[in-house]
Amino acid sequence: LPVVILISGTGTNLQALIDAARSGAIPVRIAAVVSNRPEAPGLERAREAGITTHVVDHTRYPDREHFDQALQACIDAYRPGLVVLAGFMRILTPGFVEHFAGRLINIHPSLLPDFRGLKTHERALRAGVQEHGASVHFVNNELDGGPVIMQARVPVHPGDTPAELAARVQTREHELYPAVVGLFGTGRLRLEQDRVLLDGRPV
Ligand code: GRF
Repeated sequence: LPVVILISGTGTNLQALIDAARSGAIPVRIAAVVSNRPEAPGLERAREAGITTHVVDHTRYPDREHFDQALQACIDAYRPGLVVLAGFMRILTPGFVEHFAGRLINIHPSLLPDFRGLKTHERALRAGVQEHGASVHFVNNELDGGPVIMQARVPVHPGDTPAELAARVQTREHELYPAVVGLFGTGRLRLEQDRVLLDGRPV
């Protein structure tokens, strides 16, 4: 299955997906990596793996609509069966989301529906939760609000700093995301009328 991965930053989730695809653990081919930031370190990870990279720099477009049109055209050239947001830090327009409906997924560092948005680890600590984690979900027009596919849970330890908690969550993200992409690649996962089906059954 051809996959396009969108990043904005470090790309540790991208790296986990590259490693899983390379080893044959997941039946996908990473056709291209696209960043909205020219200096995203994740671009180098892709280049090192011999994957085609593109920069679609949002600062060069007058508005979200034009940026998303350029981004969509760049992605469509690869005819991907799945588009993976891996630390992609732009809000997508309804037209874009609709175009890729059912084949656009994101990873978010919280146990959704808790802590949508930014600074999730700080907010989880402040809220005093005992459990935190990461969620992979299909993207819809609600920010971090699309149907959840799978989650990874971690304990919150007394005295955790946001950085410590983030590191614990990220380690799990690097297993969770390849697992979900693998399920999609084997055709076991789909979105049907806002419901996530795994092997034909609601998750
Ligand atoms: C991850 O924590 C992910 O959950 C969030 O952005 C971060 C990306 O990290 N959406 P990386 O660029 O994959 O290292």
